[in-house]
Amino acid sequence: MTKLVRPQPKRWIDVTQDQSWIPQNVDVSVPSAARVYDYLLGGAHNFAVDRLMGDKAEEMMPNSRSAARLNRAFLRRAVRFMTDQGVRQFLDIGSGIPTVANVHEVAQEQAPGSRVVYVDRDPVAVAHGELIVAGNDQVSVLQADMRDPDSILGSPEVNRLLDFDQPIGLLLLFMVHWVPDEADPQRLLKRYREALPSGSYLAISHMAGDHVNDEARAVTDRMSKSGGGEVAYRDRHEIEAFFGDFELVEPGLVKFAEWRPTGPGDISDDPAVNRIAFAGVGRKP
Ligand SMILES: C[S@@+](CC[C@H](N)C(=O)[O-])C[C@H]1O[C@@H](n2cnc3c(N)ncnc32)[C@H](O)[C@@H]1O
Repeated sequence: MTKLVRPQPKRWIDVTQDQSWIPQNVDVSVPSAARVYDYLLGGAHNFAVDRLMGDKAEEMMPNSRSAARLNRAFLRRAVRFMTDQGVRQFLDIGSGIPTVANVHEVAQEQAPGSRVVYVDRDPVAVAHGELIVAGNDQVSVLQADMRDPDSILGSPEVNRLLDFDQPIGLLLLFMVHWVPDEADPQRLLKRYREALPSGSYLAISHMAGDHVNDEARAVTDRMSKSGGGEVAYRDRHEIEAFFGDFELVEPGLVKFAEWRPTGPGDISDDPAVNRIAFAGVGRKP
């Protein structure tokens, strides 16, 4: 006789009503880069202070939302490219609050079984990330600071999921511009590059110093004054140096919309948006 199993009712969390997802140590009076970005992308894991900041950003620099969207589009292309090259494990540092088309979704769609470790210093990003990946034992979320490579590379999450004898895809998307020069990002990048085995890939997207205008500076100054961190705009030469001896794949380090666009969603109608950030993917020889 067939046994009938009554399906368990699903417990959906309405994040606008149910505040139980908010970690206790979060200061909701200071905007956070992760939550402002989440708001710009249409997510729900943000507070009034973040929405205010996001609206202000959009008012002062009307292309902030499009820039966030183009960056996510670059993320998808970079992960698909790496998956096509045979990469099956990813380390996404500064991963942000999970939104649509997260790294594990893109990678596992192409290559089921791909493993991903997400790292962010923001407690909301980590708390929500844990909810999203619950039940997926190929994915882990770690709260750590990129400026402390040992705490990331030596973590149980990284050691459980990533095999340092096989190529790894390291993603630093809209991340390194949050690391000020005083923290020596070139030294940090060297440390991460050295930890990766040959055949690994590194993807970077980074706010571009050459096209930064007064509006953009005003937005980031405001973010910084509100306690949300400072953005370091860098030029092509500095960003290219983050790749060290990794070989940049075609078309090299370019404006993010120009990196292997596949459709209209990858490019903005506004040429100024397309130039906001540099992006590239490099391979370790
Ligand atoms: C703009 S979001 C980018 C999210 C995602 N990488 C993307 O490209 O869509 C930047 C993220 O970097 C995180 N972040 C900033 N500085 C960090 C640091 N030193 N260590 C770890 N995460 C950091 C922020 O919390 C935020 O979630």
